[in-house]
Amino acid sequence: MPPADNDGTAGADELSALRAMCETLARGAGEIALAGRREAIGATELAGTTKSSTTDIATEFDEAAEAHVVGLIRDLRPDDAIIGEEGTADPGTSGYSWYIDPIDGTTNYVYDQPAWSNSVAVAHGDEMIAAAVYVPPLDEMFAAAAGQGATLNGRTISASDETDLSLALVGTGFGYQPSIRREQAERLVRLITQVRDVRRLGSAAVDLCMVACGRLDVYYELYLNSWDAAAGELIARESGAVTTDFTGAPARPEEMVAAAPGVHAAFLEALQAS
Ligand code: IPD
Ligand code: CA
Repeated sequence: MPPADNDGTAGADELSALRAMCETLARGAGEIALAGRREAIGATELAGTTKSSTTDIATEFDEAAEAHVVGLIRDLRPDDAIIGEEGTADPGTSGYSWYIDPIDGTTNYVYDQPAWSNSVAVAHGDEMIAAAVYVPPLDEMFAAAAGQGATLNGRTISASDETDLSLALVGTGFGYQPSIRREQAERLVRLITQVRDVRRLGSAAVDLCMVACGRLDVYYELYLNSWDAAAGELIARESGAVTTDFTGAPARPEEMVAAAPGVHAAFLEALQAS
């Protein structure tokens, strides 16, 4: 891996190499998960342990996919930090940090609904610099590197050119805790009359990539985890979407908005009034 530039920022070749590594890791996780999915006949055979609530589950394939990705990173870049949804927390010493959601949309995965993905991103310091989200049921690989745009299966993608919020298709999601869901649902009731329609796809990483390729005009969600948002946010931003928190400050997992540039301001206004 070429070293970072003298000012400490990653150079173009390094960014491309890290994006390729993200793609390899996400595809590897996807292949493990897809093989597990194809072996199963019904949802119950994939049921796994519960996590933050009875509906927040992890299957053996979430764990196997994370173990695969973590093993490769530890081999190739042993000094990097690694944060994974299934419990990996390596502190690292290099200044680079990997964010892994081995299966984002595990509920869809268990129910054999197609919107699930494998999400891998790498940051240098506080800046996310390369990312990939693989969607195995569609064989779609979304990827991005900082300043180099976003791609879908190697082709450049762009956020939509929608300018009218009332025509915007909006994605959102819900957390696993009932009290948080109530807050999220009440906000949605106030927003739904102001937009074309709403989708709840079931994978935050997929939602963000849908904004990146114009299949959604807006996505917003409260209280994501770093691994849900890391890759998709960079991909959305590199596609030309505007990503912020609910006040217009830089996006963060706890408050995520990604919107086509022509509707971002109007959506934020609606969100703040909701
Ligand atoms: C969840 C999905 C979902 C979002 C939740 C996430 P998981 O991740 O991304 O779309 O609404 O907030 O926790 O549990 O399927 O990896
Ligand atoms: Ca997730």
